[in-house]
Amino acid sequence: MAKNPVKITETVLRDGHQSLVATRMRIEDMLPQLEALDKIGYNALEAWGGATFDTCLRFLDEDPWERLDTLKANLKTPIQMLLRGQNLLGYNHYSNDVVEKFVQKASAHGIGVFRIFDALNDVRNLKVAINAALACPEKPHVQGCLVYTISPVHTNEKFVELAKELEEMGCHSVCIKDMSGLLEPYVAYDLVKKLKEALKIPVELHTHCTSGFGHATYLKAVEAGVDIIDCALAPFSSDTSQPCTETMVAALEGEERDTGLDRQAMTPISKHFLGVKKRIIDEFKLKGYFDINPNVLDFQIPGGMLSNLANQLKEAGMEDKYQDLLDEMPRVRKDVGYPPLVTPSSQIVGTMATFNVMSGERYKMVPKEFKDLARGKFGRTPVPVEKEFLTKTLGIPEAEIIEDCSIEDAKGMTFEQFKEEMKQKGYLNPSDEDVLSYALFPQVAEEFFKKHFKQITAYVK
Ligand code: CO
Repeated sequence: MAKNPVKITETVLRDGHQSLVATRMRIEDMLPQLEALDKIGYNALEAWGGATFDTCLRFLDEDPWERLDTLKANLKTPIQMLLRGQNLLGYNHYSNDVVEKFVQKASAHGIGVFRIFDALNDVRNLKVAINAALACPEKPHVQGCLVYTISPVHTNEKFVELAKELEEMGCHSVCIKDMSGLLEPYVAYDLVKKLKEALKIPVELHTHCTSGFGHATYLKAVEAGVDIIDCALAPFSSDTSQPCTETMVAALEGEERDTGLDRQAMTPISKHFLGVKKRIIDEFKLKGYFDINPNVLDFQIPGGMLSNLANQLKEAGMEDKYQDLLDEMPRVRKDVGYPPLVTPSSQIVGTMATFNVMSGERYKMVPKEFKDLARGKFGRTPVPVEKEFLTKTLGIPEAEIIEDCSIEDAKGMTFEQFKEEMKQKGYLNPSDEDVLSYALFPQVAEEFFKKHFKQITAYVK
């Protein structure tokens, strides 16, 4: 056994299928392999949060809370979820009590690792979720994220400062969240080295192979002392997903930081998931594979987003404007203060760029969400947005500009208000879990409840 083995968090049950097959894996697809996965000795199994919650309700006719219960009943390995700070798993800022309630319930249902991030790296958006997770009686592991991006204002030194803040806030570890695979191997080496020197808590690295760096980036990060890497089993690895678990285990075998994990034990699990992947691709008529694209470094659009934008242009009969769109993305991003592009900022900036290109005139039609991002409703952008851009170009009244970008100005409905709204719609005795599903995805949850109404009134925890 190596003295300081690299630990692996397995993402096949969340990011793997979110990145490659639009998050369409069902609990039935997972169940046959949970016992085997549990025996591998992973640091954690990422299996909840991100887009899984929405997809369960919207496309799979599955209650996400029940999925979590089933996972918990079959796993001793900690279950990890990805949480978007004050946005939870939705696209709005929720009130503090909704955030707290959600975290408490997720912990009670079995989340062992909360990975928490904010699209703008504004720690004020993380505070409520982090504190709520730290206060849970089940004592889950609480991890804060550095959302990695490249811009004239993002430096490794700045990321280290952010990591120190997360440590001071009580996080048990930090994760470099490189959602678009922008982190180059030698930059990763430098960043991990600096983080290891500055922090007492473990450092985890999460990347995607979108631009082709993935495995090399992990190796350099391992050399620099990274504690944990996120990998996906072969069928759900590479392309726009994580580097491959088996490959990384093999690469480190017999070396100083040998993971100690049994690669042979992974073979039957991967075989099962290859079958799952093929079935999902057929069932939902998905593409299922992507080409490595080094140009992602320039336009920085997460993989799934890129195909959506291309489709939007195609539907409008403007396929020839594709390159214009790729050129427009970085300009819009600059105008709005260089936000990292991750949900929801990736959609907001992507849609704005598409509108600019399609209308042939910049900022002629401006979606509300873009104005909100620019005026500070979602928090502080890495660079303050120019006043003139806000008032003249976007036509935002002075009074609506949130000077300190404080999220206190983004108050949403309280938990009780959501519950009351449900009661008025005839859901007489909703469980707290149902209220939370409804708070996050009102229309989608209601469609789901209509189909399962009997369960709603009888659903007592
Ligand atoms: Co990811």
